[in-house]
Amino acid sequence: MIVKTATFISSNTKVDKLPAANLPEYAFIGRSNVGKSSLINALTGNRHLAKTSQTPGKTQLINHFLINGAWYLVDLPGYGFAKASKSSRAVWEKFIRRYLSIRENLQCVFVLIDSRHEPQQNDLDFCRWLGEKGISFLLVFTKADKSSLAKANSNVRKFHQALLQWFEETPPHFLTSAESRLGCEQLLTAIDEINSN
Ligand code: GTP
Ligand code: MG
Repeated sequence: MIVKTATFISSNTKVDKLPAANLPEYAFIGRSNVGKSSLINALTGNRHLAKTSQTPGKTQLINHFLINGAWYLVDLPGYGFAKASKSSRAVWEKFIRRYLSIRENLQCVFVLIDSRHEPQQNDLDFCRWLGEKGISFLLVFTKADKSSLAKANSNVRKFHQALLQWFEETPPHFLTSAESRLGCEQLLTAIDEINSN
């Protein structure tokens, strides 16, 4: 799929103020700093679309980007931000989980996981919650340029293995890099396939 246009639409903290739910929508979620905003920029070929930062906790709102006038990419704040206060984490939890639970045009959630690390409990718990809620998701391993392919693939295998404690089958995964655009075409093709079904 070719991304011809990618336009910022809105930033929201309130689920009832989101754009009308009349187009297919794909949300990017994962730990703070995992590379959600960077991957959205790599997919759309626009380095300045979603704001990125070396400091975790950059994205704090639900950001909608309209792609080719036909579907939304949604950049969400990250979870597991160690420096955030307990109360602000609780607010995050409530608002993101509410968004994911009620958004009827949400086709699929992309759970981003840092390919450099062994499976982390908060990522596994988040996938488990999505499974319990019946929200469909795909696994997207990020920052593949930062470690060897062997190490990244080993972490990917371990993640699937860990999910099997709760799931009969694990979802497909993509190994990506926002730097080299590894996996970007495959991700866009997956979105295209869902859109045309
Ligand atoms: P929050 O909004 O804080 O939750 O973070 P985020 O998940 O949106 O991460 P963001 O895209 O802001 O990236 C965090 C840092 O990782 C930035 O310094 C990026 O340049 C870097 N980064 C993201 N993706 C990649 C990648 O694929 N390769 C490399 N080398 N660096 C990356
Ligand atoms: Mg971000």
